[in-house]
Amino acid sequence: MNSAERISLSPRLLELNNVSHSYRRGQQITPVLKTISLLIERGQTCALVGVSGSGKSTLLNMLGLLEQPTVGRLVFNGQDTQTASADQLANLRNRDIGFVFQAFNLLPRLSIIDNVALPLSYRGVSRREARVSAQAQLALVGLADRGSCRPADLSGGQRQRVAIARALVGRPTLILADEPTGNLDSQTAAGIMTLLLGLNHDHGVTLVMVTHDGQLAKRFDRQIQVIDGRLHEEGAHERVWV
Ligand SMILES: Nc1ncnc2c1ncn2[C@@H]1O[C@H](COP(=O)(O)OP(=O)(O)O)[C@@H](O)[C@H]1O
Ligand SMILES: [Mg+2]
Repeated sequence: MNSAERISLSPRLLELNNVSHSYRRGQQITPVLKTISLLIERGQTCALVGVSGSGKSTLLNMLGLLEQPTVGRLVFNGQDTQTASADQLANLRNRDIGFVFQAFNLLPRLSIIDNVALPLSYRGVSRREARVSAQAQLALVGLADRGSCRPADLSGGQRQRVAIARALVGRPTLILADEPTGNLDSQTAAGIMTLLLGLNHDHGVTLVMVTHDGQLAKRFDRQIQVIDGRLHEEGAHERVWV
């Protein structure tokens, strides 16, 4: 996206209106998110913090259209997701969202370059074109010479860089990262954070990240605490949204 396009778009990227979410297994219902509202603007960096089990991953998956609200409304990029078909949701996910997980989630049998190219293949981009884009993305994360390796040949930090390259290859508007540095030593983690925050700074990518690290969260525009399925944010009342 060039800057002119960015300016012409609505600043609202994601809106949750009185959203609740429960998991249902047979007769058992687990309420997780409890009537939350949240507006995330294009280009913001948001840290989601909170104890284990508070609902952070559920919220992140909902922002990524992997979970639907049980109650309430989620508007993504101007589109009400309640009225979207499964195909439309999959398209939105593929075009607009890049995911980065703690466990990297690379496909072990595919080469690094094919792992990175995967989101483009799902879009129907030709293999040749997808590989050219994947190679460029690998260079951006400092792994230009590793394309032919398998995930098992790389260190944890390198694998997470591959996962970030895969998340970015389709030029998403939004990066969602669930404790992406949780499996990495502190020095490697610092490099991954510099990379993620740099993408926001240099390219205006919106970044929402779950982290346990309060110090790290302070580097984000917003720190949103998830406490027992509810959201708390310092200074949130000062925001005026009409
Ligand atoms: N697929 C699922 N089915 C049933 N319960 C789930 C599922 N995923 C998460 N939970 C429950 O939802 C609650 C919140 O989980 P989660 O969103 O993963 O929290 P966090 O990421 O903050 O640790 C926990 O009690 C968890 O056990
Ligand atoms: Mg989690």
